[in-house]
Amino acid sequence: MPRGERAPLVIAIDGPAAVGKGTLARRLADHYDLRHLDTGALYRATAIRLLRVNGDPSQEAAAEAAARNIGDVDLHDPALRGEEVGQAASVVAAHGAVRRALLDYQRAFAAEPPGAVLDGRDIGTVVCPDAQVKIYLEATPEVRARRRLCELRSRGVESIESRVLEEIIARDARDRRRSAAPLKPAADASRIDTSALGPDEVFERAVATADSRLSSS
Ligand code: CDP
Repeated sequence: MPRGERAPLVIAIDGPAAVGKGTLARRLADHYDLRHLDTGALYRATAIRLLRVNGDPSQEAAAEAAARNIGDVDLHDPALRGEEVGQAASVVAAHGAVRRALLDYQRAFAAEPPGAVLDGRDIGTVVCPDAQVKIYLEATPEVRARRRLCELRSRGVESIESRVLEEIIARDARDRRRSAAPLKPAADASRIDTSALGPDEVFERAVATADSRLSSS
């Protein structure tokens, strides 16, 4: 069957903060000729909208209204990647109403041919439970803190490693313990521990995983 007549190919990449989901997702999208959605940007954009009007991220109704109003401009805001925004994003992301407000957009993105790579926390469990390929990335908090520090430095932002580590641990704890779509691997996800792997090795393992899933489906 020609590619266009097949169900869209969906690849779900989930995992904790600063584990390298975005890097892998972009490379997989390029490799399989798919579109890419960084779903964390939706929660970060929601948080920025709230912070800019001195809103309180813990207030569900205000956070839901912000989520319903985000647009393309918010998704490309240079302030999106800041750690303060990441913390506020994980607070708004715990509200069920915020997650519901963002769900249709994510599912519609995935459903459009030829398909997409989505990275986040709940892609394999909630957003796209029928994704043909599900990968869950892991790494120790210390390794992830060092990666985030390098990413921040490459953007000219100086930070202290112990502070970045604390923030990552706090954000992961909030993401794991929430009741709405908590961070956890889908039962049928392939787990890759990237603690001792470079980006090329992670990419090669992910392609091997995806190819074997696709040849058996
Ligand atoms: O890039 P990093 O891993 O640091 O974070 P992100 O993917 O940009 O996500 C920021 C925050 O948004 C996370 O800590 C989660 O609380 C939330 N998020 C979520 O709840 N569900 C998703 N699918 C994606 C992000």
